[in-house]
Amino acid sequence: MRDIRNYSLLEHNTFGIDAMCGRFLEYASVDEAVEVAGMISSSPFLIVGGGSNLLLTGDYPGTVVTPAPMADVSAGVCLDSKNLTLRCWAGLVFDDVVNYCVDKGLYGLENLSLIPGQVGASAVQNIGAYGAEVKDVICSVEAVEIATGKVVTIPAEECRYAYRQSRFKTEWRNRFLITFVTYRLSTSFTPHVDYGNIRAELDARGIATPTARQLRDVIIDIRNAKLPDPKVEGNAGSFFMNPIVSREQFENIRRDYPSMPFYEVRNVLGECTAYKIPAGWMIDQCGWKGKTIGPAGVHSRQALVLVNKGGATGSDIVRLMKAVQHDVCERFGISLQPEVNIV
Ligand code: FAD
Ligand code: EPU
Repeated sequence: MRDIRNYSLLEHNTFGIDAMCGRFLEYASVDEAVEVAGMISSSPFLIVGGGSNLLLTGDYPGTVVTPAPMADVSAGVCLDSKNLTLRCWAGLVFDDVVNYCVDKGLYGLENLSLIPGQVGASAVQNIGAYGAEVKDVICSVEAVEIATGKVVTIPAEECRYAYRQSRFKTEWRNRFLITFVTYRLSTSFTPHVDYGNIRAELDARGIATPTARQLRDVIIDIRNAKLPDPKVEGNAGSFFMNPIVSREQFENIRRDYPSMPFYEVRNVLGECTAYKIPAGWMIDQCGWKGKTIGPAGVHSRQALVLVNKGGATGSDIVRLMKAVQHDVCERFGISLQPEVNIV
């Protein structure tokens, strides 16, 4: 177990904020997670994965806990070839698992290619992109309950997954240290290419029926063209969630903005019950795209992403966040909620 006092979190957050924590603990096994749970249960702690959805507004005096990273994916996964499930160590880089699966002919994760962060956080965040959400392939989550040290296996059905939501983010916040996530995969590949410009990109490459590798490559290229690389410009992906609004609110806004993009939100019966409006479009409409306040900026190719233009503090980013929220609320009557965890 790594146990370090007064440790810099610079390498543990993609916003590139240089903050310190009082203590840094890294667990490399279930036994170590149980031990760590005992060490932190009565003092302030923060669980961090890759820190790619985290904004630090100052030093964190308590203990930061993280699962140990693992460079060799094959050492951190275990395939049950009868049930086609893959049990993955929480500290693995999620995209390394996607790549591994595509290599091995295990399908279902390819549309989630290149989402930063770790396996453990994928189950907290219910990560999603290009028409897919990880909840649709999660079977179960293994974890250690911090208060008791008990090792538990939680079936996905109990995690109350919804758009960027789970019980781990709400009533179970800070209750568990996740150790493993098991995904259910398939050996037959069905390409999902109807979202955004995937089809157009495939057409441009003369690909009618893509392989999983080709689909992954196209999604990686689309993402790289649109989203800033955190190593170049610190960011945490979409800063806000896309708001889900009622039909009435949607129609009110649409009257003034007939070309507004939107997604229908459907219930289990397939009925449209609400509408999701892209927050990036609203921020763009407010004229914020490419604008800055000091060292904090709105990305020039995707207005939903706030960036560290160099040397920004968490407070600089929060100032920009509030200015953007204010203008969107004035113009559309919608209060944007951050997707990013602000600590
Ligand atoms: P962190 O940010 O470190 O933590 C996220 C949450 O999970 C926190 O609440 C933390 O306490 C909890 N947590 C982490 N590990 C554990 C654990 N082992 N046990 C218990 N709790 C834990 N997200 C998307 O959904 N779709 C995208 O397309 C997308 N694109 C992005 C693009 C960029 C360039 C960036 C920087 C981010 C993007 N994100 C996207 C956001 C981010 O990648 C996800 O939220 C990701 O799941 C965060 O993983 P992480 O390991 O960095 O978690
Ligand atoms: N748009 C604009 N201007 C902008 C940005 C977007 O007009 O500056 C418009 C686009 O033209 C498009 C619509 O808004 O019509 C949606 O844009 P995009 O396809 O880029 O997706 P998004 O809704 O902004 C979401 C996720 C991303 C995910 C992509 C692709 C959220 C909060 N964000 O973004 O996830 O990668 O879809 O599926 O749901 C993340 O969560 O960190 C993240 C990056």
